Amino acid sequence: GAAAVQGAPVANAPAASSAVSNEATVLFGSQTGNSHKLAKKLAGKLQDQGMQVTLSSMIDFKPNALKKVENLFIVVSTHGEGDPPDNAISFYEYLHSKRAPQLGGMSFSVLALGDTSYEFFCRTGRDFDQRLEELGATRIAPRIDCDVDFEDSAQQWLASVLAAVGQSAAAAASAPASDSGSVDAAAAMSEDSTEYSRSNPFQASVLENLNLNGRGSDRETRHLEISLEGSGIQYEPGDSVGIYPQNHPRLVDEIIEAMEWQADAQVPLPKSKDRTSIREALTSQYEITVLTPALIEKFAEVAPDSGLKKLLEPGQEQELRSYCKGRDLLDLVQDYDLKELSAKAFTAQLRKLPPRLYSIASSSKAYPDEVHLTIRKVHYENLGRVRYGVCSTFVSERLEPGDNLPLFVQENPNFKLPSDSDTPIIMIGPGTGVAPFRAFLGEREEQGAEGKTWLFYGDQHFSSDFLYQVEWQRWLKDGVLSRMDVAFSRDTDQKVYVQHRMMEHSKDLYQWLQEGAVVYICGDEKRMAHDVHATLLAIIMQEGGLNEEGAAAYLSQMQQEKRYQRDVY
Ligand code: 2AM
Repeated sequence: GAAAVQGAPVANAPAASSAVSNEATVLFGSQTGNSHKLAKKLAGKLQDQGMQVTLSSMIDFKPNALKKVENLFIVVSTHGEGDPPDNAISFYEYLHSKRAPQLGGMSFSVLALGDTSYEFFCRTGRDFDQRLEELGATRIAPRIDCDVDFEDSAQQWLASVLAAVGQSAAAAASAPASDSGSVDAAAAMSEDSTEYSRSNPFQASVLENLNLNGRGSDRETRHLEISLEGSGIQYEPGDSVGIYPQNHPRLVDEIIEAMEWQADAQVPLPKSKDRTSIREALTSQYEITVLTPALIEKFAEVAPDSGLKKLLEPGQEQELRSYCKGRDLLDLVQDYDLKELSAKAFTAQLRKLPPRLYSIASSSKAYPDEVHLTIRKVHYENLGRVRYGVCSTFVSERLEPGDNLPLFVQENPNFKLPSDSDTPIIMIGPGTGVAPFRAFLGEREEQGAEGKTWLFYGDQHFSSDFLYQVEWQRWLKDGVLSRMDVAFSRDTDQKVYVQHRMMEHSKDLYQWLQEGAVVYICGDEKRMAHDVHATLLAIIMQEGGLNEEGAAAYLSQMQQEKRYQRDVY
């Protein structure tokens, strides 16, 4: 059976024993670090099985090396409207181009990370999976698409890849599969329990919780100081902290009321034999603020009389999406009759409440045993009700000094200070996007770094929204910060944004680029980061005398050299 590879000339077919090589390449495309972490985990396990493993970010992987890869494992996330993460773009484009080689001898498997609340769920991973097959590679374990609560699915994939690799290795050695091939999936996957992580967060104590905005501001931005004492947790500037929030008590109560449950009705905890009250479960365990088509399908299944089936009729996908958008579980239980569901049956359908990631705002050199975060309260009205950002509202309204906050550090290798502290840096961070730059400058101050630094900051009003104003001014005075340009958008008739300030100083900015400066962008992705990107291109065209293509190549070269880094959300 295995020899019947269509069209393969028998003489050139690899001998059975070399069909499974000892080589494995694990490539990741990661924006927030989850794919990176999972890739690292797989690489470690493959190594434990005696394989020669190459682990690499897609951007660092030389496409020429692809021809030599015999086992390729891809872990990649999808962003926004189905986009690959920054460090996956060049490899994604290469693999989908005519330059991509035939990969007949290659085995592969893909793990895709994503979010079912987006239309193009896991598209990047799906594309890679399909493309590798088109190029002739053999899928040795099925692709798995993960939702935001990715842990279980990711473990499943890791186990199936390890089993496939183990089986083939065993077959190649003509040994019974049970000898060398069997992998105890559960044991292989168990977390190192001595370390704090996403699945084992540290109960950190809150030291300070201050509103950074002044009177009259539309904004409420919290500066959190949190103790890491005793945790052994380490972090670098550019890393993030994941925190587990609690849902709004009013929303929880209104759902319970609408469903006519007793608030102390017992439900099982996710993946556990322990039980807790429905109120506690909806507060701390489950996501109740997001509707997804996948969730509607599950509810329609368990509550056939709810009327939800109508939403799921074929050809209605857009209507279903638009129903989900901006609604939460309270809307759902008000719009559809789900009262036939017990608290237990109801919670069994829900996603686990995912942690929220925030860019760290402190340097651990400046604040040993502490971590600082900058969190802006999100709230808005929609469909006749005020909607609250889960985590930001929890932090603003219900978190006090002395409280415990479950958290973990998420490394972000894509947003790091240059190793040479003489390298100039340009930081663009309006609003809460400025957070990591407080960490950067704190670090550079502690290092006694010589490299020039330039900050672009913006928000609505100078008098009430200038986050950390005193600290920037001190750093300017001390020379830790060489330059700062600010854009307060609502102090003038005409709006000014950070990119306008960049354009005003295009000559200097280009000069810095030519001197090897690293450019960092942090903050809003859709509007700000997009416009800032376009402005950078315009500056490079204008000052470098390049056409559009030349400027794009300049910027993508910078990206390749890690001189253009983004932490956007
Ligand atoms: P605005 O709210 O007055 O439009 C931080 O949120 C700052 O970013 C605010 O001053 C906000 O201005 C501004 N901002 C909004 N859209 C932006 C964009 N496309 N580019 C840059 N800054 C933007």
